[in-house]
Amino acid sequence: MSKKILVLAGDGIGPEIVGEAVKVIGVLQREYGLDVELDSALLGGCAVDASGEPYPAATQAKARAADAVLLGAVGGPQYDTLPRPQRPERGLLAIRKDLNLFANLRPAMVYPQLAAASSLKPELVAGLDILIVRELTGDIYFGEPRGIEQRNGERVGFNTMIYSESEIRRIVRVAFEAARKRGGRVCSIDKMNVLETTQLWRDVAEEVARDYADVSLSHMLVDNAAMQLVRNPKQFDVMVTGNIFGDILSDEASMLTGSIGMLPSASLDEHGKGMYEPIHGSAPDIAGKGVANPLATILSVAMMLRYSLERADLAERVERAVSRVLDQGLRTADIWSAGCEKVGTVAMGAAVLAALAD
Ligand code: NAD
Ligand code: IPM
Ligand code: MN
Repeated sequence: MSKKILVLAGDGIGPEIVGEAVKVIGVLQREYGLDVELDSALLGGCAVDASGEPYPAATQAKARAADAVLLGAVGGPQYDTLPRPQRPERGLLAIRKDLNLFANLRPAMVYPQLAAASSLKPELVAGLDILIVRELTGDIYFGEPRGIEQRNGERVGFNTMIYSESEIRRIVRVAFEAARKRGGRVCSIDKMNVLETTQLWRDVAEEVARDYADVSLSHMLVDNAAMQLVRNPKQFDVMVTGNIFGDILSDEASMLTGSIGMLPSASLDEHGKGMYEPIHGSAPDIAGKGVANPLATILSVAMMLRYSLERADLAERVERAVSRVLDQGLRTADIWSAGCEKVGTVAMGAAVLAALAD
């Protein structure tokens, strides 16, 4: 039976980059026997414009019925003054929570062709291959109480950092399972010197480690981890951390690879259902200009093929095609350097389509 993919283009550059990724899926359907049905729906600001809600019931019903979801990005300055429940970002958090997508895999891999595009010296990043495993449905993102209120004659803002041991255990297990298939090393990132929540995180990580004699576990405080990522990123194999630290560290890691426009992600539940999206946002500064890099979204399709559609063969085909266009010297503006050919979103997508046959 065909698998169902729900496409949520979202806002800003979302429709531009998702458009190219959907073309890739189309070629895989027509020429490589990928058996999927595509549907689309609204999430984020476009959904607010249409219905007043960032995660409308119609989208929820389709998302629950889908085997996999492909998302562009949500948000934009025109929505930043809306009441919080109607903000596009709330729609994204709501779909992650609704589908129980607790495991966010954010690989940061340096394509050799882009080593010179990194903010770091090429020798520091050449061959880099790290996997950030970010918890996605807990932490300060969802903790209660939260709000802004009057206390003692002034406003106070508050959020709650909270994790249960079961939430920590399941994400740390994901990291250990991943490490087993890679370099065999997990580094757990916390702030246990200050925060009780992350003391529990460290304790539970140690407990999980007892079941994985073949994988080594180390711990690092998040401030040091942020520094080590730019000092010597190749020391890491799998990094596992909570929602907010993972958000920040993965944007930082993206620049090791040359651009945030290169980093895909998979957000998985316990059964292989997933949502796939680039780690970047809706990039309002370049939206509508046709210059956004579609490769993170196309590489997210590769992750979808691998994790939700059981087509690792096609995932590799897509990844090879991306590598081929980089070999050809094609670069969107974010990864461009002298001697390369600057192309827009559609031309980059078309080059990937052409390279799928290689
Ligand atoms: P951003 O990731 O959208 O943009 C940061 C910078 O990176 C910008 O200069 C942008 O032009 C550039 N950039 C991002 N993606 C690119 C691409 N594919 N190609 C070339 N350049 C790219 O982050 P921001 O500006 O902080 O946020 C903008 C909006 O996006 C906000 O509303 C934010 O809430 C939202 N956001 C959404 C998601 C998501 O949907 N998953 C993720 C992050 C931010
Ligand atoms: C991301 C984004 C989101 C997050 C926002 C838009 C809610 O930054 O996917 O990394 O913080 O998780
Ligand atoms: Mn982010």
